[in-house]
Amino acid sequence: MIKVQNLVKRYGSKCAVDNLGLEVQPGEIFGLLGPNGAGKTTTIRMLTTLCKPDSGTIEIAGHDLRIKRDAVRRLIGVVPQERNLDLELTVQDNLMVYAGLYQLDKRRQRVDACLDLFGLAAERMTQADKLSGGMQRRLLIARALLSQPQILFLDEPTIGLDPQIRRGIWDSIATLRNEGVTIVLTTHYMDEAAVLCNRIGLLSNGRLRMTDTPGNLQISAGSFMVEAPDSNGIKRTLCPDREQAEMVAALLPGALIRPANLEDAFIALTGQEL
Ligand SMILES: Nc1ncnc2c1ncn2[C@@H]1O[C@H](COP(=O)(O)OP(=O)(O)O)[C@@H](O)[C@H]1O
Ligand SMILES: [Mg+2]
Repeated sequence: MIKVQNLVKRYGSKCAVDNLGLEVQPGEIFGLLGPNGAGKTTTIRMLTTLCKPDSGTIEIAGHDLRIKRDAVRRLIGVVPQERNLDLELTVQDNLMVYAGLYQLDKRRQRVDACLDLFGLAAERMTQADKLSGGMQRRLLIARALLSQPQILFLDEPTIGLDPQIRRGIWDSIATLRNEGVTIVLTTHYMDEAAVLCNRIGLLSNGRLRMTDTPGNLQISAGSFMVEAPDSNGIKRTLCPDREQAEMVAALLPGALIRPANLEDAFIALTGQEL
């Protein structure tokens, strides 16, 4: 569904996206996981035609983005990182205006369907600035789905939200995958990537360090983590199996063994924390 090769974007001397390549299969949820400044938003903006790469190629559903920009725009939905709702309009009118912009058929029915899907039907007459952060995020996703896109891009869909509200949004995103929508999301939350994504690309300083399933990424870095207090704080050692973890722990006073997680893998592979 998506094929990216040798993608580069520079801002002055800063290489925000550095020779990035990836492929996303139909129906997959692909996650770009990386800390602030890794290049997630820049990548999403290039994939969604909002900014032009310095070099490299992007194909979306077989369309070369350099040539078929409008065709691609009709196929995709975009949920930006910043909340760009019309805060003075009601929930319903935010969607109606957008449906009008996109010249959708049966606007009212599409709007109602999206309100229902995202649990916003009861809030339809509420002014958008009166909604909670979680509800605003839902409205942004509902808006991106009005045109029934084949591919949905979500840039940090749950940033700054409470854990319980994040889970609700995860459920909604998982529902979309079950309906066959291909999804690309970015996140700096290890748990979000692990729960939602079929495959994850680890992004650090504009470079994609590794791409694999959450399980394989974790295993490739080490399955068990030994943590022991030392003079600088905590000493951490990743081990491939429990036997080795126990050997390491036996040498370190106060050591604890726990299963490794995706964040451990990220640090091991990139030297950076999420
Ligand atoms: N419009 C811009 N002008 C200059 N530098 C930018 C611009 N957009 C992004 N950058 C820089 O590019 C890098 C990647 O940014 P971004 O893609 O927003 O990362 P992320 O979304 O992963 O936090 C950062 O160092 C950021 O400061
Ligand atoms: Mg960003």
